[in-house]
Amino acid sequence: MMVNNLQDTTTLHNGVKMPWFGIGVFKVEEGPELVNAVKTAITHGYRSVDTAAIYKNEEGVGKGIQEGLKEAGISREELFVTSKVWNTDLGYESTIAAYETSLKKLGLDYLDLYLIHWPVAGKYKDAWRALETLYKEGRVKAIGVSNFQIHHLEDLLKDAEIKPMVNQVEYHPRLTQKELQAFCQDQGIQLEAWSPLMQGQLLDHEVLQEIANKHTKTVAQVILRWDLQNEVVTIPKSTKEHRIIENANVFDFELTKEEMEIIDGLNENHRVGPDPDNFDF
Ligand SMILES: NC(=O)c1ccc[n+]([C@@H]2O[C@H](COP(=O)([O-])OP(=O)(O)OC[C@H]3O[C@@H](n4cnc5c(N)ncnc54)[C@H](OP(=O)(O)O)[C@@H]3O)[C@@H](O)[C@H]2O)c1
Repeated sequence: MMVNNLQDTTTLHNGVKMPWFGIGVFKVEEGPELVNAVKTAITHGYRSVDTAAIYKNEEGVGKGIQEGLKEAGISREELFVTSKVWNTDLGYESTIAAYETSLKKLGLDYLDLYLIHWPVAGKYKDAWRALETLYKEGRVKAIGVSNFQIHHLEDLLKDAEIKPMVNQVEYHPRLTQKELQAFCQDQGIQLEAWSPLMQGQLLDHEVLQEIANKHTKTVAQVILRWDLQNEVVTIPKSTKEHRIIENANVFDFELTKEEMEIIDGLNENHRVGPDPDNFDF
């Protein structure tokens, strides 16, 4: 598999095409910076946007989408939009209601992907039934989960009628998730990286810098290229135009097998975000 273009897609197990690359908007508050970031990403060729109800920014994301589509001269169908149901809304009726609320805030009539944000024990199966209903009714193009470990997936699959198409998890050179990725590959579930840049904490890493120098690229670009060559969908966040451009400029070089192994070797099973087996929200 070789991803050659910012708009290249992976085909999910239901046939839906999802861009390998997108923009994330975690911690970006409502306001012009948010609207501009989304719009800027779309005008620079991004075709995927990742938000969540808990980010409390779906209205601005929706506005950025409208402006971006207009400026880029593309239709809604050419964009892939993801949102997520928050923990307090997990339940059959409440998840369906949460989906309606997200759509309304985003100003959209469907999402491309709707995810269960966290695997809250005792709650995610009812929420999954709701996602299955939305999917079967044709109201959402694909459904998936986030922060699911292997045992969460195994448990969900016992009762699921439809397999999740995506599992979005923390993933970067300090947390390479090899076992989870192998499990997901076996099941046909596409892995997607959140905090691919480890929230900026890896950008002065010596080994990564050396590899970056060899390719005359930045460390951020090396990490994002490593995601793609590992067949992981990636959604780096930036609100700065020059970084939005920089992050997406990863289609004109290739990491060697040795470089891929060196980066894989930086794994320490280290998380910057909450542990899916031990969270209290
Ligand atoms: N499912 C989940 O539970 C979950 C959890 C966390 C995140 N996510 C999703 O994943 C997306 C990405 O993760 P993230 O936002 O946590 O972290 P990230 O993408 O790893 O890192 C974002 C940080 O890196 C900086 N940055 C971005 N590009 C850069 C570059 N080229 N050079 C230097 N600094 C750069 C950004 O600052 P500037 O904006 O100032 O450029 C920001 O501070 C989120 O936005 C969200 O959509 C999902």
